[in-house]
Amino acid sequence: MEAPTSITLCIFVLLLVAAARAEDPYRFYTWNVTFGDVYPLGVKQQGILINGQFPGPQIDAVTNDNIVINVFNNLPAPFLLSWQGIQQRRSSWQDGVYGTNCPIPPGGNFTYNMQFKDQIGSYYYFPSLAFHKAAGGYGGIRVLSRPRIPVPFDPPAGDFTILAGDWFKLNHTDLKGILDSGNDLPFPDGLLINGQGWNGNRFTVDQGKTYRFRVSNVGISTSVNIRIQGHSLLLVEVEGSHTMQNTYSSLDVHLGQSYSFLVTADQPPQDYTIVVSTRFTNPVLSNTAMLHYSNSNGVPAALPPPPGPTIEIDWSLNQNYNLRDAIARYTLQVYPGAWTAIYMPLDNVGMWNVRSESWGRQYLGQQFYLRVYSPANSWRDENPIPKNALLCGRASGRRTRPL
Ligand SMILES: *[C@@H]1O[C@H](CO)[C@@H](O)[C@H](O)[C@H]1NC(C)=O
Ligand SMILES: *[C@@H]1O[C@H](CO)[C@@H](O)[C@H](O)[C@H]1NC(C)=O
Ligand SMILES: *[C@@H]1O[C@H](CO)[C@@H](O)[C@H](O)[C@H]1NC(C)=O
Repeated sequence: MEAPTSITLCIFVLLLVAAARAEDPYRFYTWNVTFGDVYPLGVKQQGILINGQFPGPQIDAVTNDNIVINVFNNLPAPFLLSWQGIQQRRSSWQDGVYGTNCPIPPGGNFTYNMQFKDQIGSYYYFPSLAFHKAAGGYGGIRVLSRPRIPVPFDPPAGDFTILAGDWFKLNHTDLKGILDSGNDLPFPDGLLINGQGWNGNRFTVDQGKTYRFRVSNVGISTSVNIRIQGHSLLLVEVEGSHTMQNTYSSLDVHLGQSYSFLVTADQPPQDYTIVVSTRFTNPVLSNTAMLHYSNSNGVPAALPPPPGPTIEIDWSLNQNYNLRDAIARYTLQVYPGAWTAIYMPLDNVGMWNVRSESWGRQYLGQQFYLRVYSPANSWRDENPIPKNALLCGRASGRRTRPL
């Protein structure tokens, strides 16, 4: 009696999995990871490029899409990409951190296979091993809602990604060497917006229309603030949750975080300055981009670019903190001498990396793995180890499972 029942159950589950997969679209990518020359601060540096791009290509997807990315590592070092904020429902095998994936060896490749299950919002990917994050290799991820799902604002006339973060003239191996020898990272040399220095980006808008900006802090060591001359920012999304829609003159984006805000081009037709500057640092680093009205004829706005908060903590506390109906998110800031309470529902089986986003601290060990397991040991709770899993350490040379 026992055996047939469990066989039936297995087949049933298989059919369910097959049916669910057949319904949701697949998006396939082939990525070639190389070193290449980049000049973000005017000096030649080795950056990590994906298909020759710096930052890497953007992933545009819809909730529940299946994403298949074959990553070819053409760096002379082991490499992994991780997917900041992607929940990896049942698929911690695809998280791309050292505790769940063996590194892709130089000259090797690995195909990530994940589903953006029940997620919407703004995320990014980044290289997770060694100190590669300081060399670029990151890119934006946008997960749009399915057409039938209501979104609490009108469809924007455009959807722009801003990947902002600090940058060093020293390369990633030198930075790692500084940490290895027991010293602190130096102060960054600049801030980049989408891999570019001063005024390297122009976002073109039509007067009267509303645009969505998705901003992520992809840096190593500093929080940033973003603001747009003459315009207010309507916060609508934080790391996959639609928020109460409050208006801000500027927003703090701490390390690893992603936000979406709406901007209405409701000012005279001119070109306005978008400013990103570091928070809680002295000196303050900044970078600018341009909000270009399509009918501006290149006239720059007369107003001075807006100053931003620098070392004030209260100001930042007031903006973010919500002790009554907090939202679900992936990255939380803790202020000096302060604390933050986190509620974490352990509803996704797997091995999860919990870490500091201050990358020097992460590198030196301010991280741990949290195993969430289910005694049922069922495919309902966790996918089996993928057939193409790379094996390393004590698992080298073993087969993952019969094919
Ligand atoms: C990746 O790029 C390098 C350098 O351009 C090239 O030599 C190599 O053939 C590419 N590999 C793939 C798989 O496209
Ligand atoms: C490497 O790429 C090939 C296709 O070129 C693919 O068949 C193979 O599964 C990939 N390897 C891994 C480990 O994903
Ligand atoms: C980093 O720069 C140092 C010189 O400061 C150089 O010796 C080293 O090869 C560089 N590493 C990479 C990966 O480019």
